[in-house]
Amino acid sequence: MQTTTDVRDGEETIQTPVEFQAGLWFIGSIRTPWKTRRECPRRGDLDGPVCRIVVDEPWRRALQGLGRHSHLQVLYWMHEARRDLVTQKPNHTGVASGTFTIRSPNRPNPIAVSIVEVVEVHDDGVSVRGLDCLDGTPLVDLKPETCPHDRARPGGG
Ligand SMILES: C[S@@+](CC[C@H](N)C(=O)[O-])C[C@H]1O[C@@H](n2cnc3c(N)ncnc32)[C@H](O)[C@@H]1O
Repeated sequence: MQTTTDVRDGEETIQTPVEFQAGLWFIGSIRTPWKTRRECPRRGDLDGPVCRIVVDEPWRRALQGLGRHSHLQVLYWMHEARRDLVTQKPNHTGVASGTFTIRSPNRPNPIAVSIVEVVEVHDDGVSVRGLDCLDGTPLVDLKPETCPHDRARPGGG
C-alpha cells in the first residue's frame, strides 16, 4: 500500500482485505496552494484561498447549472492517506482515538468532504473557497449544498 504516513506509538493497524467491493472514477482533480500535508489547513475555511476544481472530459457537461448554487459539497479522495489504521493519535491532540471518531484523512476509504463557496464557474470546472486538500487531490463528486447556506442564483450558469 502506498502511503506517506508512518504509524505512531499508540496507533494500531489491521490487515486490510485483499479485494475491493466497489469501483469509482475520479472525475477530475483539485488545484490548491498546498504541496505537503503539513501545509494544508486541518479544515477548510470559507475565508481561505481560492482553489480550482478541474473536471475532466467527459464529465464537464455535468457542470450545467452549477452557477445557480452558492455553496457545494465537494467529495475528494485523500490519495496519500493510510487505509489500515483503526486507532490514531493525531499530533495536534496527542490522544489515541478510533478512526471513526476523528476526521483524519487516514481511513478505510479516504473520502473527504468540504462545504465550499462557489467563486466562479468555468467551462472545465469551478473556483471555490473552503478546501483543505493537497494540490492534485483526485475529485470524487460535486453536489449542491442546500442548507443552511442556500441562496439560489436564478439564471446562474
Ligand atoms: C483532517 S482532513 C479533513 C478533510 C475534510 N475536510 C473532511 O473533514 O472530510 C484534512 C487534512 O488531510 C490532509 N490531506 C489533505 N489532502 C490530502 C491528500 N490528498 N491525501 C492525504 N492527506 C491529505 C492534510 O493534512 C489536511 O490538513
